[in-house]
Amino acid sequence: MKGLTALLLLLVATAPAVAGEVRAPATFLSPDLRALQGDPSRHPGWLWIDTGEALWRAAPAGGRPSCQGCHGDITGMRGVATRYPQVAQTGDLLNLEGRIETCRSSHQQAPALGYESEALLSLTAAVALQSRSLPVSVATDGPAARFVAEGRRLYTLRQGQLNLSCAQCHDENVGRRLRGDVISSGVGTGFPAYRLEWNTMGSLHRRLRACSLGVRATQFPLGAPEYLALELYLAARAKGLPVETPGIRR
Ligand code: HEC
Ligand code: HEC
Repeated sequence: MKGLTALLLLLVATAPAVAGEVRAPATFLSPDLRALQGDPSRHPGWLWIDTGEALWRAAPAGGRPSCQGCHGDITGMRGVATRYPQVAQTGDLLNLEGRIETCRSSHQQAPALGYESEALLSLTAAVALQSRSLPVSVATDGPAARFVAEGRRLYTLRQGQLNLSCAQCHDENVGRRLRGDVISSGVGTGFPAYRLEWNTMGSLHRRLRACSLGVRATQFPLGAPEYLALELYLAARAKGLPVETPGIRR
């Protein structure tokens, strides 16, 4: 309980921060981590990039084409990640992981890789890397509008034993320190990211589960509709900010 009390005191006792501007995650990193994020020769996440690029070229069992067989060189994926999550023709909201899994099952007739599997993290990171530094440009109108609205509802909903919303931390307390972290604008533009605390690459939904746990709220499963809607809302807030994947985090 001590940790919880300290957290509440921090958030309640400090004067309200200036809400508004959504800033790129890299601007909150320590100089060391920011340098690491920009240096492929030292960034541990590049192991996953290499794996992802190899998987892109590898044909699955059963004679179906590789990703490359249909899509050509992975550099052709430039800009794709800036448009995800996106509503598919089926009406489902798909993030990049979901889009890749759909190609696995319907175009390669291969078993799903599974959320948070090394293979899916690697492919997602390698595809997203092709959009590194390009501005987020998700669609928020048309069929996406109701998902954005649901994401906004969840983002502003007070949750858990601490009764805190995402917005109370990631809008109202941006720049404050919390348990050794600087609270950022809470956008997903660096994911999948290598987190030192995890000692591995992880998805945005894994990060969101950590935030849910932090306020003792319900943790939804990886890939859950709630986290997909939140992911789209975070991307809507991040429009125009550069994709940073693979990010590096504490
Ligand atoms: C048999 C051909 C085929 C294979 C193999 C295939 N895809 Fe696709 N992919 C498509 C088609 C067609 C689309 C367009 C959406 C649709 O109709 O499903 C697509 C869409 C995509 C998109 C979204 C592109 C966009 O502009 O929104 C991504 C990302 C993607 N595929 C990744 C992959 C990956 C990663 C693999 C390998 C695991 C793969 N695909 C294997 C045919 C394929
Ligand atoms: C008690 C404060 C708090 C609450 C409430 C909270 N978070 Fe966080 N969140 C953090 C901290 C601290 C971090 C790690 C530092 C950072 O990147 O902001 C973090 C990290 C993140 C990140 C990763 C940012 C990055 O670039 O690595 C995202 C995305 C995020 N939060 C989204 C959310 C969402 C969505 C919610 C609501 C479901 C939420 N957070 C609720 C404190 C909070």
